[in-house]
Amino acid sequence: MKVKFLIALMLGLAFNVNGQQIKIAFEVSEDAPTISKHIYGHFAEHLGRSIYDGFYVGDTSTIPNKDGIRIDIIEALKEIKIPNLRWPGGCFADTYHWKDGIGLKDDRPTMVNAWWGGVTEDNSFGTHDFLNLCEELGAEPFISGNVGSGSVKDFSDWLQYTNHAEGSPMAQLRKENGREEPWNVKFWGIGNEMWGCGGNMTVEYYADLYKQYSTFLTSWENENNLYRIAAGASGDDYHWTEVLMRDVPKSLIEAVGLHHYAVIDQDWGNKGSATQYDEEIYFKSMKEALRMEEFISKHSEVMDKYDPENKIDLVVDEWGGWYDVEEGTNPGFLYQQNTMRDAMIAGATLNIFNNHSERVKMANLAQTVNVLQAVVLTKGEKMILTPTYYVFKMYTVHHDAQLLPVYFDSPKYTFQGESIPAISVSASKDEAGKTNISLVNIDAKKEHKVIFDLEGLDVNNIEGKILKSEKIQDHNTFDDPDKINISEFKDFKLIKGKLEVSLPPFSVVVLSSK
Ligand code: AHR
Repeated sequence: MKVKFLIALMLGLAFNVNGQQIKIAFEVSEDAPTISKHIYGHFAEHLGRSIYDGFYVGDTSTIPNKDGIRIDIIEALKEIKIPNLRWPGGCFADTYHWKDGIGLKDDRPTMVNAWWGGVTEDNSFGTHDFLNLCEELGAEPFISGNVGSGSVKDFSDWLQYTNHAEGSPMAQLRKENGREEPWNVKFWGIGNEMWGCGGNMTVEYYADLYKQYSTFLTSWENENNLYRIAAGASGDDYHWTEVLMRDVPKSLIEAVGLHHYAVIDQDWGNKGSATQYDEEIYFKSMKEALRMEEFISKHSEVMDKYDPENKIDLVVDEWGGWYDVEEGTNPGFLYQQNTMRDAMIAGATLNIFNNHSERVKMANLAQTVNVLQAVVLTKGEKMILTPTYYVFKMYTVHHDAQLLPVYFDSPKYTFQGESIPAISVSASKDEAGKTNISLVNIDAKKEHKVIFDLEGLDVNNIEGKILKSEKIQDHNTFDDPDKINISEFKDFKLIKGKLEVSLPPFSVVVLSSK
């Protein structure tokens, strides 16, 4: 393998110097990890118009709905095979008291959503609504529990309410509220961003709290197979991961989280417009997004030190582009448009996750509807799908497929003397033996040509799909909802096991063997 890698690298460098085609080699190995479909997860927080006036319009709405959830959203998310949905936050999670969201809707207490716009939350969307929505979607629920302002008892009661078949007071309460069978929620986040909105804690303090919450959530042996995710670091806080890995016994933890948002220069006071930007800003966004590679590699290094057997997963439970809100909208609602720049962020980030699928087993784009890098935007009865949505649609081919590690040296995307890799690639082989390759060219101006060596892959026929547009700022609007959509891609040649592909500037391509 190493020899093949070196040859590929040398060839790649040779091609690169000549400024022509880049050679890409695969490692075909039965030991390669599976790309967990949960890498393609989503996130729905009680924030702005994500739940209310987003997913949930209520069952008296004139917008077609099933138990108050928009049918068009359900259908759109099924189409991208949404594997899991994280809820109720985010920062909201550590303020949320789940018992306020069960029972008769009219009797539910209200609260103020202090993190997000100070609006009144009437708790009309609660545990039953969320878990029934997940069932409808065929997605696994991922509940982030309240550690910051909750209690161990409340948290373990929540689990009993959702997962106990019978025999416990919480199971009885669930039945009284109209749900006989438990939902059996597997994924549980133990708090969120504990270094910030979760309680401004040190990791040393949180590690002790984590152990306490985690202990009372399940049995000693965790026979019911809960998947407990420790609230993780932001970006390059490797100390956070180090302490969790060092201090939490492996019997109490299944995964460690990580959050990274592509905020230009990490200047949170000046994030820039989602649609009005020039190439300099675009370049900076891409530079920030690609840091995901560095963060995952370095957090994985720390994890390898304490967990060489790879028993604990890395879960990137918040990621995406974050800009200033759209003009005239509530600053606390985080409503932003979604352009081809976001498609580049999505395509490149998902390739990074795929290529790290040995350690990264789950991820959640922030967020699903009307918030941050959303896949769906709504306005009254209208709904549009964003460029990011189409990237998720194209990449469904990788769900639970076996990774085909790729080796190449990317050409550079250079802007004003600074360079970042222009091309990102990941590949997999699915159960039916089909090979799928996803490629992203983030270069705003240049087409790049690549050649794949398909030796050992038994590929004779290929079909392609592309997401591209005229300008990087292009996006779908409520007046022009189909400006950006997937189209057929034919700019490739397959000759004697060599696949030559020409990638247009700022495009996402998926090639699949037939
Ligand atoms: O996704 C929006 C917010 O970003 C989440 O609530 C929080 O966890 C993060 O800071």
